[in-house]
Amino acid sequence: MKLTRRDMFGAMGGLIAGTALSNAAAVFSATTEPAPDTYWTPRKLNREEAAQISYENFFYKEYGCCYGAFKGIVGLMGKKYGAPYNSFPLHMMEVGKSGVSEWGTICGALLGVASAWALFWGRKERDPMVDELFTWYERASLPVYTPDKCLSFEGELPTSVAYSVLCHSSVSRWCYEHNIKMKSKQRSERCARVTATVTLRAIEIMNAKIDNTFFAVAGKSESRKTCGACHAPEKASDISKGKMDCAACHSGDLGDKLTNHP
Ligand code: HEC
Ligand code: HEC
Repeated sequence: MKLTRRDMFGAMGGLIAGTALSNAAAVFSATTEPAPDTYWTPRKLNREEAAQISYENFFYKEYGCCYGAFKGIVGLMGKKYGAPYNSFPLHMMEVGKSGVSEWGTICGALLGVASAWALFWGRKERDPMVDELFTWYERASLPVYTPDKCLSFEGELPTSVAYSVLCHSSVSRWCYEHNIKMKSKQRSERCARVTATVTLRAIEIMNAKIDNTFFAVAGKSESRKTCGACHAPEKASDISKGKMDCAACHSGDLGDKLTNHP
């Protein structure tokens, strides 16, 4: 009897499913790295030094915000302490540029910092740090950081509050409020400075974490408390996912722009 491709896959599927059912743990160890989760030792850093590296590396090969933020932390540790920090393939972090491959989802600077922290801390330790950084970002008037030597645009830049951790909202709101084009030297400079500002705050949180001192000052946004009274597990409507400030999108005049617009 000749086996068709379909018969083959059917037989193989049965085999795999059978194994999974009989011993799920064995399948996991066979398909993933056998090494245990090992975390690198986090090092305290100078925030100004880290921020400058983040700012400058935003422009390195146009790798952008995520790369810049990550390098301000892990790159600086590598420079100061060598291995294992200098073994990380830093270039992979450019994926986060402009909210992951230009999609405008999470601000890449935030992704860069959270990724760096994940090298040192597992979920239980890291989540409160991410909560603090992300909530701070939603409310912060950005950018704050001013470089000694500007690499894209000289001079003062206006600021805005994003109310959101999304690249899209953060950038578009700033462009709209100040009538500056998305594709401009100012906007590029702005995002480089936002990246450095995020690094400044990230190092504060990280250093405090290493010193075992208090860092969680932001707390939950008001809307998360209000809406979370019902939109949460075990509550009236458990259908909402995430920790973002609900008011950023479920309030105001973010109406239908597909009809009668502009
Ligand atoms: C007193 C409880 C309660 C509170 C507080 C509450 N919701 Fe709801 N919400 C519901 C229930 C119940 C539904 C119906 C959906 C369901 O059955 O799961 C719903 C539906 C929704 C929907 C989908 C339907 C619609 O009306 O558009 C959205 C969006 C929503 N809520 C957003 C919010 C936001 C944002 C807040 C905070 C500002 C909030 N809700 C606060 C109970 C609540
Ligand atoms: C970045 C913008 C954004 C933020 C922040 C946000 N939402 Fe939403 N939410 C949306 C969009 C877009 C949908 C899909 C709307 C649709 O399908 O009509 C949605 C859907 C929902 C729904 C399902 C009902 C529906 O109409 O699809 C609920 C409930 C909801 N959001 C509650 C919340 C709560 C509670 C928070 C805060 C914890 C929150 N959202 C934060 C944009 C947002």
